[in-house]
Amino acid sequence: MNNWTRRRFFLTSLTGSLVAGAGKLFASSLPSADAAPASGKRPVIISSLNGLKYLDRGMDILKKGGDTLDAVLATVSAVEDDPEDTSVGYGGLPNEDGEVELDACVMHGPTRRAGSVASVRRIKNVARLAKTVMDRTNHLMLVGPGATRFAVDEGFEETNLLTERSRLAWLAWKAKTAENWRPGLDSPEWKDPDDSKKMSQLFDTPEKQVWLAWARQVVAHPPTGTINCLAVNEKGEISGTTTTSGLAWKIAGRVGDSPIIGAGLYVDGDVGGAGSTGRGEENIKIAGGHTIVEMMRKGMNPTDACLEALHRVARNYNHDKKRLRKFHIFFYALNKDGVHGSAALWNNHYDKSPAEYAVHDGSPRTARCASLYDETVIED
Ligand code: GLY
Repeated sequence: MNNWTRRRFFLTSLTGSLVAGAGKLFASSLPSADAAPASGKRPVIISSLNGLKYLDRGMDILKKGGDTLDAVLATVSAVEDDPEDTSVGYGGLPNEDGEVELDACVMHGPTRRAGSVASVRRIKNVARLAKTVMDRTNHLMLVGPGATRFAVDEGFEETNLLTERSRLAWLAWKAKTAENWRPGLDSPEWKDPDDSKKMSQLFDTPEKQVWLAWARQVVAHPPTGTINCLAVNEKGEISGTTTTSGLAWKIAGRVGDSPIIGAGLYVDGDVGGAGSTGRGEENIKIAGGHTIVEMMRKGMNPTDACLEALHRVARNYNHDKKRLRKFHIFFYALNKDGVHGSAALWNNHYDKSPAEYAVHDGSPRTARCASLYDETVIED
């Protein structure tokens, strides 16, 4: 039995014996099988693992009594600025045309407002841009060139978001997938589809060679990395944000779950918040953020609520692992009492490290995600 099945078995059999015929879905006001934290600590800020080194920026704001949305934005803006993070903001992997297109949204629990942007080019801090849509317009979501124009009008700087590393990875992806970008049939260098030579031509200096293994990975398994960040202050107020460069090598205009209120993020000030990273198409189909918050409203703990969302993702494929292995998805949840949890479809990250998320409730640390399947995702 995998993690989720064990929990569900425990919960549903307990429910069945106590309350015949009671709805199984919301059974987890009863104790959970695993040791999910029963009480929380406030203030607390959590994020996907890629936020770990910047959580202290958000926590500083929370400790000074600042706003929870300002706290999560302080953390994710630092990730957006970081060229080493290739899933978000500057340095994010581009679409198939080599253009970085960013999506983000924010939700502010205390005022019950939200803002969102999608398919934004040449603007780095799209999570702040989503807040600017919330603060300064009568709209909720702006997309494409209109969103970029709005950003410039509001004083955001236009900039090239492609780094040398992400540009080379894009060229490597083109060489692998598009005949046009390989030496022609009449060339002495012509080869059957095999990227190994082109790869080493592109990554031709010792400095670039350190990116080679990573490039092979992102070409073979286009990532959908993202950052989701949620914070609760001492008073129990909560906000969240999700920001991303989306699926690597996507068709221009493809939008994932990150800017979709109710999928990539959902916050209800009375309950808590939830968000996601990974393959957005799967999350949109189950409205994961909203689903998780609604389950927490009924008393489910954050980890079990994340696992239930994953079950719905897997159910859409009749639990066919051959197909499910082709992607990854994580959910994160935090309730207003400061109890948090996360669950992943598989028990590891793409780099094979254990599935973890980031938490700061006094000092920054990692915490293990529960997993729907106790198996490793990537097949080489
Ligand atoms: N979760 C990010 C995306 O699919 O775009």
